[in-house]
Amino acid sequence: MKLKFIGHSCFLLEYKEYKILIDPFITGNPNINLDPLSIEANYILVSHGHSDHVGDSVEISKKNSAKIIANYEVAEYCEKLGANTLGMNIGGMVDLDFCKIKLVTAIHSSRLPDGSYGGNPNGFLVYNDEFSLYFAGDSALTLDMQLIPKLAPKLDFAILPMGDYYTMGIEDCVLAAQFIDCQRIIACHFDTFPPIKLDRNKAHNAFDKNGIELIIPMVGEYIKL
Ligand code: NI
Ligand code: MN
Repeated sequence: MKLKFIGHSCFLLEYKEYKILIDPFITGNPNINLDPLSIEANYILVSHGHSDHVGDSVEISKKNSAKIIANYEVAEYCEKLGANTLGMNIGGMVDLDFCKIKLVTAIHSSRLPDGSYGGNPNGFLVYNDEFSLYFAGDSALTLDMQLIPKLAPKLDFAILPMGDYYTMGIEDCVLAAQFIDCQRIIACHFDTFPPIKLDRNKAHNAFDKNGIELIIPMVGEYIKL
């Protein structure tokens, strides 16, 4: 499996012939110089309605006939704009044959770019017999994360928002890693805007102290898994 950090909370997961794109906020991201329509995807996971997550989902979905997987309200919004969607909700799982995707709790807010109600924000579990990962969306630290180890196979890695201010910060992410029982954490949702600047040394020190591997990816980087 290959995992590329495109920027902010956007990742591209490549497994066999499948490409799963997560939260593709590219247009408007000051750190990315990339044509969103150059990205190929079969599925697009959208964690909630905020524009830094819905981003270019609709355009990429239309270009690639990629299915957007999101909560019901986000999916309905994208569907109205011409995208192909699966409108699910928290607690629900869909079996895509090559992997399972489950929507799990995220504590955050969710309003769509047009101001309409975005439903409840969520995270995603993506797993099969070969890999298992958790993407937390924009979640705050929540005790619900203690359920994650019971909902999916042992996690190979988890992607957590670490920039603080709008989401968890460093210390909360360490606790989250313990709650979800995961030894390899990939940071996201940092450095895109001034309030979410990440102190890399502080983050590495906090994780080192707790014996948990932390990867702080560079924009455009393929992450070694
Ligand atoms: Ni958000
Ligand atoms: Mn966000």
